[in-house]
Amino acid sequence: MRRLPVAPQGVLERRSGGLNPENKGVFRQVKSFAPTPFQLKVRPSLTVCALTDQTFALADNLRFLKALITRPKNVGAIVPSSPALTRAIAAGIDLHRTGPILELGPGTGVITQAILERGIAPERLTLIEYDAEMASHLAHKFPRTHVVQGDAFDLERTLGNRHGEPYAAIVSGLPLLNFPVTLRNSYMAGLIDRLEHGAPVIQFSYGTQAPVEAPPGCSVNRAALIWANIPPARVWIYRKN
Ligand SMILES: C[S@@+](CC[C@H](N)C(=O)[O-])C[C@H]1O[C@@H](n2cnc3c(N)ncnc32)[C@H](O)[C@@H]1O
Repeated sequence: MRRLPVAPQGVLERRSGGLNPENKGVFRQVKSFAPTPFQLKVRPSLTVCALTDQTFALADNLRFLKALITRPKNVGAIVPSSPALTRAIAAGIDLHRTGPILELGPGTGVITQAILERGIAPERLTLIEYDAEMASHLAHKFPRTHVVQGDAFDLERTLGNRHGEPYAAIVSGLPLLNFPVTLRNSYMAGLIDRLEHGAPVIQFSYGTQAPVEAPPGCSVNRAALIWANIPPARVWIYRKN
């Protein structure tokens, strides 16, 4: 019998007010998490490990489904991205760059996981997720990343005093096709402005065309087409020329 390690503590920052027009004021709340209830006595066996992984995956899918039912337009997918898609997205990050990385709309953290699996230090990652429950979950799951619950369409407010930082990559999981073209254009222009020179914005999308035209002075390329995803998805990379 052995005791499973206690989950490390995570810190979540809340900066909301953008998406919901009723939330006029910005509120900021820093919340520390107590150890999780997973401190159980179990026999260390492969079966238990496999069951635990499957249970976590199922819990993540249920969390995703709940968010989808509550805010279908913002979630925009029926399940989290597949391993093939998350790997293709993470592959778009230039490993020779050492600056901070921004991930927008991380959901249950499947892309975050793929980014970390490329050997990128968690401390370099800022995750911005609008859904409060998923943001809390991310702070638990990736305690060394910086998780902010807020609106990716209003980065100046959401990033607060970090908003001037140039990023080595920005990964966007927002379902852009669900939003008006003018909002998509200003979103992408804002992301490009926040990058180190020549660094990528990596966006996935379920359409056949890039979800946003390249802003003036930028290019967009299809980096991958992933059939092994529900639905099949394309990975688009935007860069300033
Ligand atoms: C298509 S899901 C992608 C989730 C995850 N990245 C994946 O690939 O499985 C879109 C995610 O973006 C989040 N989202 C939507 N609008 C947002 C916004 N304005 N600001 C921050 N996150 C947002 C949703 O809550 C959801 O988690």
